[in-house]
Amino acid sequence: MEKFYVTTPIYYVNDKPHIGHAYTTVLADVLSRYHRLMGVETFFLTGTDEHGQKVQKAAERNGMSPKEQCDTTVVRFRELWEKLEITNDDFIRTTEGRHYKIVQEILQDLYDRGLIYKADYSGRYCVTCERFFTSRELGDCMSACPECSRETDEIIETNYFFKMSSYQEWLIDYIKTHPEFILPAFRANETLGFLRKPLDDLCISRPKSRLSWGIELPFDSDFVCYVWFDALVNYISAVGYRRDDANFAKWWPVSCHLIGKDILTTHTVYWPTMLKAMGLEMPESIFAHGWWLTGQSKMSKSAGNVVNPMEMAEKYGVDPFRFFLIAEMSLGQDASFSEEAFVVRYNSNLANDLGNLASRVLKMIIRECGGKVPVPGEPGEHENELSDTAALAVSEMEDAIRGMKLDRGIESVLNAVRAGNRYIELSAPWKLVKEGDTERLGTVLYTAAELLRIVSGLLFPVMPNKMCELRKSLGLKDVLPDIGRLKSWGVLMPGAECSDTAGLFPRIQTDKKKEGKKMTEDKQDTGLAPAEGCITIDEFFNAKLKTAKVLGAEGVDGTTKLLKLQISVGAENRQIVAGIAEHYSPEDVVGKNIVVVSNLKPARIRGIESNGMLLAAKQEGKLTLVTLDADAPSGLDVG
Ligand code: MSP
Repeated sequence: MEKFYVTTPIYYVNDKPHIGHAYTTVLADVLSRYHRLMGVETFFLTGTDEHGQKVQKAAERNGMSPKEQCDTTVVRFRELWEKLEITNDDFIRTTEGRHYKIVQEILQDLYDRGLIYKADYSGRYCVTCERFFTSRELGDCMSACPECSRETDEIIETNYFFKMSSYQEWLIDYIKTHPEFILPAFRANETLGFLRKPLDDLCISRPKSRLSWGIELPFDSDFVCYVWFDALVNYISAVGYRRDDANFAKWWPVSCHLIGKDILTTHTVYWPTMLKAMGLEMPESIFAHGWWLTGQSKMSKSAGNVVNPMEMAEKYGVDPFRFFLIAEMSLGQDASFSEEAFVVRYNSNLANDLGNLASRVLKMIIRECGGKVPVPGEPGEHENELSDTAALAVSEMEDAIRGMKLDRGIESVLNAVRAGNRYIELSAPWKLVKEGDTERLGTVLYTAAELLRIVSGLLFPVMPNKMCELRKSLGLKDVLPDIGRLKSWGVLMPGAECSDTAGLFPRIQTDKKKEGKKMTEDKQDTGLAPAEGCITIDEFFNAKLKTAKVLGAEGVDGTTKLLKLQISVGAENRQIVAGIAEHYSPEDVVGKNIVVVSNLKPARIRGIESNGMLLAAKQEGKLTLVTLDADAPSGLDVG
């Protein structure tokens, strides 16, 4: 039977969670929810990495014991996962007995089998990365850490080593013969590149004199276990390795270890060799995602550009934040995080496309169909096209999940939403209301509502709260979607009670100078828009209105109606032809501050080029120019 076991890295508890942690966990959650939706039994594991120097140092800084540091910080992670609607099945802490004891058993077993040995060691150690580097690994970096560029410390001491080097040839061969093992493929090549040089044995101990916060080696109480050797074991200790054979057999091997690209080597070299030594199967896949950057640079505390996920979720809502994380990052690549990009995507994908479709369809059902899903008539060409588009979105999303291309899956769903909006424009249900064509009206609204049902199901794993709301509004009893129903057309029951979705995705108003990114309860499409002559705010802003100054004016030969005006719009000078000559003489208008539509397609009027249009009010045949009541500079945005 197909199963899906997914893990996130376990996070260090030296500091509060940041966007990198939030991203991997939301990603794992979205994948888990999709698999559940597809009927696949799923186990989703996350947790915290609580031993090691980083945590010990943080505890010292904060004047706490390491355990107090863990117990305090772990709450921040748990709270964030709760806030972000994370549906993990387990949360493992490496200080728990169920993990601690398994690590000790594994160490003892490997030691007894001669796979761990004691030796003198000299090398350089990076405290931040908690890794030793041989002079070969340091290469041109000299004493700087090859991973984080910080200065490493020279260390000479006795330690315990795991015979990692003896698995080098086997690992190279395994990677080459299992293309799904390390993903994306370029990360497999990166690992193979690393394995081109001889692999060293892995130092798996730290003398207590240097670091006391760790799992004690069962065969030498003067040492604790290296934090990575301890941490990686969480993936098997959590599912019952050496404790619950049935559960372990059920879930291991893991379907997907999700990791960030910076922890590739530990997962694609250390972990496979450890598993091989234990005689366990390899993970089915290890997927390394890219980094969230601020602009083009790495987020870092010292640069003060680390995004706080809790603040984002509180400011913009959990679902939109989840949506942004998943839609914006192409899995495997780096992505850039900015609030501006967030607002643009939110307004365009959620407020404009999805929010409007939902709002206009449900409002019309409520107003014109007594608030009940209408009975559809015979589908025509456009209805069939729309149901095909919905079916395509379902299959593309399925492929996207299996192929780890979630951003593309979301784009397919958004394409279906846009097709839904086009369908509404084309079918003009407001006209059908006027014409009294209730049968056709029923067909159009039913078809659009069916599309919304499928869309809400496909986006449910990404935005569980908002899509639950939408599904309830569509009169669905089964709020949880399943793949069978998503693949079928005609699931909505005529007569089911619908409700409004007002405020599903209120537009985020950005003030002109971009300083205000606050949310305001904005009006969404009323569903009557074109019929009653309303336009959306975006439609309004499609016209770029600007202040302009009239620099010169003259009549146009052969007509009494037109004036040819020379105007300035900011730094730009333009010519426009306006039908105002019967109301204004050229002298009247020169020097006036007027308002023009600046992005009108240029036209030729009586053979004269006109580049823009001025605004004027008409009263009983008399025109009055729209002018400014203060002497404002030209080129300002109006609106
Ligand atoms: N404790 C280890 C993992 C052990 S797993 C057996 C660890 N913890 S961490 O808290 O430092 O980092 C956890 C994850 O956060 C890593 O996958 C890392 O790639 C990810 N990220 C940290 N900053 C990030 C971004 N700016 N963007 C995306 N992910 C990044 O490493």
